[in-house]
Amino acid sequence: MTRGFIGISVLFSLFSCVALIGQSSKRALDVQGHQWWQHAVFYEIYPRSFADSNNDGIGDLNGIASKLDYLKDLGVDAIWLTPFFPSPQVDFGYDVSDYQAIDPMYGSLADFDTLAAAAKKHGIRLILDFVVNHTSDQHKWFVDSKSSRTSQHRNWYIWRDGKGPGQPPNNWTSTFGGSTWKFDPATNQYYYHYFYPEQPDLNWRNPAVKQAMFGVTRWWYKRGVSGFRLDAVDTMFEDPNLKDNPVRPGKSVYGDPLQEHKYNTKQPEIHQALRGLRKVTDEYNGVLIGETWTADINELNEYYGKGNNELQLPMDFLFTNVNKLSPAEFRKQIAAINSASGWPTFVISNHDIVRSYDRYGDGQHNDDIAKLMAALYLTLRGTPILYYGEEIGMKTTPPARKEDVKDPKGRTGWPTDKGRDGERTPMQWDQSDNAGFTKAKPWLPVPPTAKTHNVADEQRDPASILSFYKQLLKLRHTNKELLDGSYLPVNQNDENVLSYLRVFEDQAVLVALNMSGTAQKINYELKRNGFASAKPLATTGNSSSSGDFVSLGPYAVFIGQLVR
Ligand code: GLC
Ligand code: CA
Repeated sequence: MTRGFIGISVLFSLFSCVALIGQSSKRALDVQGHQWWQHAVFYEIYPRSFADSNNDGIGDLNGIASKLDYLKDLGVDAIWLTPFFPSPQVDFGYDVSDYQAIDPMYGSLADFDTLAAAAKKHGIRLILDFVVNHTSDQHKWFVDSKSSRTSQHRNWYIWRDGKGPGQPPNNWTSTFGGSTWKFDPATNQYYYHYFYPEQPDLNWRNPAVKQAMFGVTRWWYKRGVSGFRLDAVDTMFEDPNLKDNPVRPGKSVYGDPLQEHKYNTKQPEIHQALRGLRKVTDEYNGVLIGETWTADINELNEYYGKGNNELQLPMDFLFTNVNKLSPAEFRKQIAAINSASGWPTFVISNHDIVRSYDRYGDGQHNDDIAKLMAALYLTLRGTPILYYGEEIGMKTTPPARKEDVKDPKGRTGWPTDKGRDGERTPMQWDQSDNAGFTKAKPWLPVPPTAKTHNVADEQRDPASILSFYKQLLKLRHTNKELLDGSYLPVNQNDENVLSYLRVFEDQAVLVALNMSGTAQKINYELKRNGFASAKPLATTGNSSSSGDFVSLGPYAVFIGQLVR
């Protein structure tokens, strides 16, 4: 049994501090000064894999529209759609050849408008993915850029002479393998690509590029979208002198010498561009979410901008770096993000990383652990972004054979890096063939776990992962402490159980998460701190409370209202 101590003085100084914040922000949207995106629950959809309405094996916009009831019922307020724009699909849509249209495989602009209208009716906002760093090599800007050294769009991309015959301008290596420079024999220069060669980097130093890209967001805002998830913002600018990156010992999975991306990521000029995008966003009361792979909270703070004038929601991937169920590690990361200069954003899975279900799962208690992780990031102070399928316990299912790999980097990196197909498999709707995703052959195989983890079955089972997600999201939307309260860690020395309070005015909710495989009984010394007990709001694994104590089964969750 572990003994706990909340520390009444800490608790009460916190109460008064929260009350003060409340008073000083009357002008803002709610008493606490929170904006819509601070209370919203976001849900990432990979359109290819969500729902296929016309049975060609690829998900589409009408498919998404058909699932809005499901999303509403789940408790989603905004959906982020990864790219559905015209694209040669080298990087499955992250190679955009037209920012202001829909790829026919996903539908049409009319379908988009129908989806937007239906989403609005459901009270669900749409967030688009904006690939700011690069276009497809098939984009008309690049086609023109490549056509001659004097073309109108030449300077929209980054062209340089080689160092010498057959030698690229510098040593930079692409994150997907090989040099970042591709030689174009027709104009005898190299162009720069941080990602695949089919994804040439835009030259954001060119004011024409900036204006064109700002214009793209304006066009979509006018069509009713509520914001953008900005792709790969770290990579928007490069050192103008193209200095060589420092080389580190060792090789990447693609066989390149390792290097620190010192001169081609996180350049200071990014911030000016972000401020420009934010200005447009503010005209439409929108939100900018950032794909921000920061090394620490200082770097994350830079993305909020001075005076919070850049990204409202830079994703905190430091949180996803905690790859084991370690209360100490999570405490550290949560404390760090709570000290940040802006509002926290939590993700535990996305289309680029191994799903949380197997990242944290021990192979035996995965379903319990999935609920534990849900209880963690859905009860923290901040905005959560769910990844489709996470709410039913979808598992990463990488291809078994190299010849089945769809993500190009999974072929170059095989077998160490099998690519990202495993976390992009079709949504598991029911037990039928192809999991109700399509009636045709799906573009990626449906994992065998569709038989045990699918929406239809989990909707019927009150003990399912899905039912727990719904319960948590409902709580999040109605409980003031979870919505607006501050985060106060308690029992900070416990090695097994992560405990914290969410405190709003004079009310508090206790969250206790057993990250161990053994039962735990914790004394929170509630009476000494002025509370009689903790009344359960949401629990898993037969957890219970009695007076000062909370008992938790292996990997169990207890969320309770402290009552006087
Ligand atoms: C981001 C996307 C990823 C894509 C890359 C290049 O990291 O999330 O899927 O491959 O950018 O656009
Ligand atoms: Ca389709």
